[in-house]
Amino acid sequence: MTISIVTLPGDGIGPEVAIQAVHVLQSVADKLGLQNLSIKECLVGGAAIDQLGVPLPEETLKACSEADAIFLGAVGGPKWKDVDVKIRPEQGLLDLRKSLGLFANLRPVTAHASLSSLTPFKIDHLSGLDIMVVRELTGGLYFGKRGRDKNEAYDTCIYTVPEIERIARLAGKLAASRNQNVTSVDKANVLDTSRLWRETVERIFKNEFPDIVLDHIYVDAAAMYLISRPETFDVILTENMFGDILSDEASMLAGSLGLLPSASLGDNGPGLFEPIHGSAPDIAGKGIANPCGAILSIAMMFRHTLNKPEVAKAIEQAVTKTLGSGVLTADLTDVNNAVSTEEFGAAVINAINL
Ligand SMILES: NC(=O)c1ccc[n+]([C@@H]2O[C@H](COP(=O)([O-])OP(=O)(O)OC[C@H]3O[C@@H](n4cnc5c(N)ncnc54)[C@H](O)[C@@H]3O)[C@@H](O)[C@H]2O)c1
Repeated sequence: MTISIVTLPGDGIGPEVAIQAVHVLQSVADKLGLQNLSIKECLVGGAAIDQLGVPLPEETLKACSEADAIFLGAVGGPKWKDVDVKIRPEQGLLDLRKSLGLFANLRPVTAHASLSSLTPFKIDHLSGLDIMVVRELTGGLYFGKRGRDKNEAYDTCIYTVPEIERIARLAGKLAASRNQNVTSVDKANVLDTSRLWRETVERIFKNEFPDIVLDHIYVDAAAMYLISRPETFDVILTENMFGDILSDEASMLAGSLGLLPSASLGDNGPGLFEPIHGSAPDIAGKGIANPCGAILSIAMMFRHTLNKPEVAKAIEQAVTKTLGSGVLTADLTDVNNAVSTEEFGAAVINAINL
């Protein structure tokens, strides 16, 4: 049976990191003798607007919904900042997540020992750091009704019980295979959606995951604890916007936004795998972007969709080994010692031991 993968390079540094991720995927497939892998590239974001006038063309959505897994680089950039908000590049990605029912975004945060001097944090808080941020992805403020006129604007945040239940269950299952600890993050002292979130999460864990230690903290405190005591977190469960912000904050524990991968999953159908960073217009076209997040997203694809955790591990170990040997892109070292995006990708491929 063919394993079909759709790649969506997108905009800015998206295509630059995507090509390295695809090289890793192809190299692993060759090493494993996976001759039934088909990789198809499609348009999304600004690149799709430029060619077809919309950020998520119908043929892209069709190819994605028929695929086993999807890889995305990044979308957006200043070129499209003045287009109608409904057809902005970022809207293409939101529509793709919604159409495929990708309600859960998994963002693992680990710290590489070799990079500890790059983070502004105390090293003893980083050793063995292993946080999984589980972010609800298709509800809340990013999908509620919004509007504006000249002097007023509004966005609405809505969450339903089933939406909260399914993401809580997924976090519970993940925690059961990790350190048995879930911290649910909300703003229940102010927001009704957060009060519903807290009650629902509480009930799901009491009834379905009695052995998991669950605690609740407010998002403002979570932002502080992520810096003051990051090592105490295992799984962080939170809603869409809080998760978006906290996972970017957590990326600094690792040392650079360019290091971190993510997986977006639904109940069934393909998963979407993408680095957590955006299109980085400030460095696009220079060949200096860090492709780690993109390459590690391929590892997540092997773990969560292709059911080959040993391959995921081999890719992760190759990235750790490459970073540890001092092969670093410009976001991690001074410009004179930095390797290019392409050189880093090639070094990882060399280091994969399968
Ligand atoms: N999933 C996505 O596609 C996604 C996510 C976030 C932002 N965006 C879009 O990307 C555009 C730029 O957004 P932004 O500047 O706020 O965020 P960004 O993540 O693109 O960049 C933030 C900073 O991190 C640096 N950076 C990011 N990725 C890097 C990498 N791989 N290697 C080295 N440095 C890296 C950038 O150079 C920049 O200084 C916007 O249009 C935004 O909407 C898209």
